[in-house]
Amino acid sequence: MSNASDDSVSKIRVSSNRLSKSRPRPIIIDTDPGQDDAVAIMLALACPEEIEVLGITAVAGNVPLPLTVKNALSIVQLCQRTDVPVFAGCDRPMVRPLVTAEYVHGATGLNGSGLGDPAQEAADGHAVDFIITTLLAERDQKVTICALGPLTNIATALEREPAIAAQIEEIVMMGGGLFEGGNVTPGAEFNIYVDPQAAAIVFGSGLALVLMPLDVTHKALTTPERIEAFRALGSPAGNCVAGMLGFFERFDVEKYGSVGGPLHDPTVIAYLLDPNVLTGRLCNVEIETESELTMGTTVIDWWNVTDRPNNCLVFGDIDAEAFFALLVERIAFLTH
Ligand code: RIB
Ligand code: CA
Repeated sequence: MSNASDDSVSKIRVSSNRLSKSRPRPIIIDTDPGQDDAVAIMLALACPEEIEVLGITAVAGNVPLPLTVKNALSIVQLCQRTDVPVFAGCDRPMVRPLVTAEYVHGATGLNGSGLGDPAQEAADGHAVDFIITTLLAERDQKVTICALGPLTNIATALEREPAIAAQIEEIVMMGGGLFEGGNVTPGAEFNIYVDPQAAAIVFGSGLALVLMPLDVTHKALTTPERIEAFRALGSPAGNCVAGMLGFFERFDVEKYGSVGGPLHDPTVIAYLLDPNVLTGRLCNVEIETESELTMGTTVIDWWNVTDRPNNCLVFGDIDAEAFFALLVERIAFLTH
């Protein structure tokens, strides 16, 4: 498909999403909670009539794996959705050493949440095995993968069992940067930087890919008014979101001088609920895996200057007011 204009591409996506609106869309959330991951998980769990969360697979990223597992368990418990299994996945990237981000998310990865230790343990079995088994199981709907962290689990599953590709509707990811550059190095965004080899496998898979880069998430800022809107819900969920965002924003506010922190990962779930809050276009995206200078950079051919295939729907803009209105409206469904 040529580089269709933004509007025509987003309308294509809207039509496909509307088709799936007749019944909940089955998804797997792969994640490294992280406050923004936590809000994304809450958003998905708040909308069971539109989204069926088959399972949550934790990966090492923002904090080490034991903490990403624990944080995911705490969030499903807060949402009273302990029916959704949480699996422990890969504890390090495929090739490179693990890089974490406590400088953003705090020592626990969920600083500000006010949550204690979860009562439940992770489900038995490795996350990669859960992904493979779930995708190969007979079902009349393909499964959407929502990737909120480094792509280690997803790439490992694709390498171990290529047959799962036929069962994947699309992979919707937060990662990378276009004109916004990177947030770890000048060129690389954290999720891609941590495991560039895994990202290269995913972007070379030929699967339907959807990307929310920093160009989108840096326009979705947690201003004081937006944080207050969550607190005004007066629910444990609303207070948890407000507390987490109040902690999470300080790094980016100081670094960028912005009016709030970028609410990265919930944009992935918002795409499933209402893609009209986003605009983007089909592009070619390649991942730098050779040069240390640009390691993990997403090379996005936004202006279609190469003849490389358009392998990804890349979003470049978001209606932030509509996004936050959707978030508050849905988090309000979590009344406990
Ligand atoms: O660069 C932002 C991304 O890295 C977000 O997904 C955040 O949670 C971290 O995983
Ligand atoms: Ca994340």
